[in-house]
Amino acid sequence: MEKSYYHAHESAYQQIKSNGYVGWGNAKTLNDLGDNVTKQYLTDTVNRFFPEPKGKKALDVGCGTGTTAFMLSAMGMDVTGVDISETAIEMGRDLSKQQNLNINFVKGDVLELDKLNQKFDLIYDSHCLHCIVFEDDRQKVLTSAKKSLNEGGIFILDTMVMPNEPHDPAHTYDTLRFDEDYILWHKTKSSYAKGVIELNGQAWCAQRRIYPPHVVMAEVAKAGFVVISDRLDAQPNEVSMLRLVLR
Ligand SMILES: C[S@@+](CC[C@H](N)C(=O)[O-])C[C@H]1O[C@@H](n2cnc3c(N)ncnc32)[C@H](O)[C@@H]1O
Repeated sequence: MEKSYYHAHESAYQQIKSNGYVGWGNAKTLNDLGDNVTKQYLTDTVNRFFPEPKGKKALDVGCGTGTTAFMLSAMGMDVTGVDISETAIEMGRDLSKQQNLNINFVKGDVLELDKLNQKFDLIYDSHCLHCIVFEDDRQKVLTSAKKSLNEGGIFILDTMVMPNEPHDPAHTYDTLRFDEDYILWHKTKSSYAKGVIELNGQAWCAQRRIYPPHVVMAEVAKAGFVVISDRLDAQPNEVSMLRLVLR
């Protein structure tokens, strides 16, 4: 079934492009892409598991316009980036040409990584899993990633989590609603696809699933992963980043 929350990403990138930005977070130039904490963490983790990263096969899932794919490619890895948004993929191709980087950008769905017919030494998810709302879909992403790893390969998962429990579902803003099932909803006009509900005459589109860390841990275990390292970059009373290395 068509899922409304996928379309939200394509329109977001069309907006990003028409505003003259180069990526998520309204980055204006290549230098503005990505944050320093992620850059350092990714570099350290890749060096820890791949002392000689050159030529190792890496897959960046939900790569957007290439922010982290560029980092992996600059380390000498042979990188493929997958994203559901055609506009993001086109922008990624242009930006990698500008940097003389040779990255294989593919429009595709993280639920179906097997369609790539390839195995990877490293799979990296930077902020994609929390965009996958439904439990069955999230499990497909994780099992699909597990199957796409080479023997000895690792999956680095950086995902948003809600650290403070009990979570307060009363948070409703003008255009956003964060419910008791940890789903973040965004006001929308249409109600044609999976992921849209109607509440008091208003249509809401499911956008993010921001679980507490222990739920994500249970999900990765269910998909057959073993946690090699975990780190929580917590911000008081705010959404935080859980960074896992999985095998
Ligand atoms: C929050 S953005 C992060 C982009 C990039 N990884 C970064 O760190 O800047 C989430 C990305 O996941 C992509 N995405 C969401 N659902 C997807 C799916 N089912 N398959 C592939 N990509 C998806 C979106 O298009 C978007 O580029």
